[in-house]
Amino acid sequence: MYKLKPFILPNSKKGFLNMVCEFLRFPDKIIRTKYREINLFDIDGKNIDKKVVGEFGEEWLKFTNHDDDLVEKGGREYFDILSDDMVNKTTYVLDIGCGTGRWTKYLTSKAGFIEAVDPSQAIFAADELLGNIKNVRLSQASVETLPFADETFDFVMSIGVLHHIPDTRQALHDCVKKLKKGGFFFVYLYYNLEDRGPFYTVLFKISDLIRRIVSRLPGKLKHFVCDLLAIVFYMPFVWAGRFCKLMGFNNLAKRMPLHGYQNRSFFMIRNDTLDRFGTRLEQRFSKEQITEMMTSAGLTDIIISPGIPLYHAVGKKT
Ligand SMILES: C[S@@+](CC[C@H](N)C(=O)[O-])C[C@H]1O[C@@H](n2cnc3c(N)ncnc32)[C@H](O)[C@@H]1O
Repeated sequence: MYKLKPFILPNSKKGFLNMVCEFLRFPDKIIRTKYREINLFDIDGKNIDKKVVGEFGEEWLKFTNHDDDLVEKGGREYFDILSDDMVNKTTYVLDIGCGTGRWTKYLTSKAGFIEAVDPSQAIFAADELLGNIKNVRLSQASVETLPFADETFDFVMSIGVLHHIPDTRQALHDCVKKLKKGGFFFVYLYYNLEDRGPFYTVLFKISDLIRRIVSRLPGKLKHFVCDLLAIVFYMPFVWAGRFCKLMGFNNLAKRMPLHGYQNRSFFMIRNDTLDRFGTRLEQRFSKEQITEMMTSAGLTDIIISPGIPLYHAVGKKT
């Protein structure tokens, strides 16, 4: 086992250092940044799409500027189904596919210690966003090459990641393996629009066709086209919804396509447009499929939030 240098945490409670585990193996490389050491592990495996990972690296190095307000708002939406027994100051957390580390950051003030992992260059964006925050360690690794022993963590999360992996079910099982018995797994997976009518279905089919084309464009052109799509595809619905709200037609605003973006900044909308149209591999799931995958991974007490983003869910390992 790779012996970790002790984390010296200013004003840390006694016992805090004991929470941080040793790596299963030596990192291939350790990069020292101005904030911390980042541990780089091999990301090769069968269940990873390296093109997708490379593109995420580019995306997250472009959209690094997630201000505190944005993180706070988004974090509250995602974690609406969490309770204090799931995450508190004694919780050892693993964030798989952390990207820029925006949701890692949200949880740093609520959890004990967080291991944040991503196979892409985004891990360097996370380093910048997390800055001087001490109760977090960053590693480059994939869900298949996690350098931690099974049953190590109290809380494992993977937000918007597993639907970009070739075998989502296997990846979900790999995440749950790292969880202690009695621990909680939190996941966000794209929903398959199961409760939507024909208008949405047609709209989705068109947007999916656009995604298949746009996601294969070369880097700069893809980013430009996605910015254009944010203006011509997202913003008209967002503006129409905001107008309905302004006129007091709140129910109508809620029924508008993309209603989740009505209170989001243009920065976030551009970021999500690139995420949505710039990614060549995405899969979508029904509530039933998510429940089945979580159950077969050994989770019970599954809660799927009725709120946006759809679907985010939590379950307990028995
Ligand atoms: C849409 S981003 C989500 C990032 C972050 N969780 C968030 O919500 O801001 C998906 C992330 O999954 C990561 N990813 C892709 N394949 C992965 C794999 N096999 N193992 C772990 N992470 C992976 C990508 O590098 C990317 O940062």
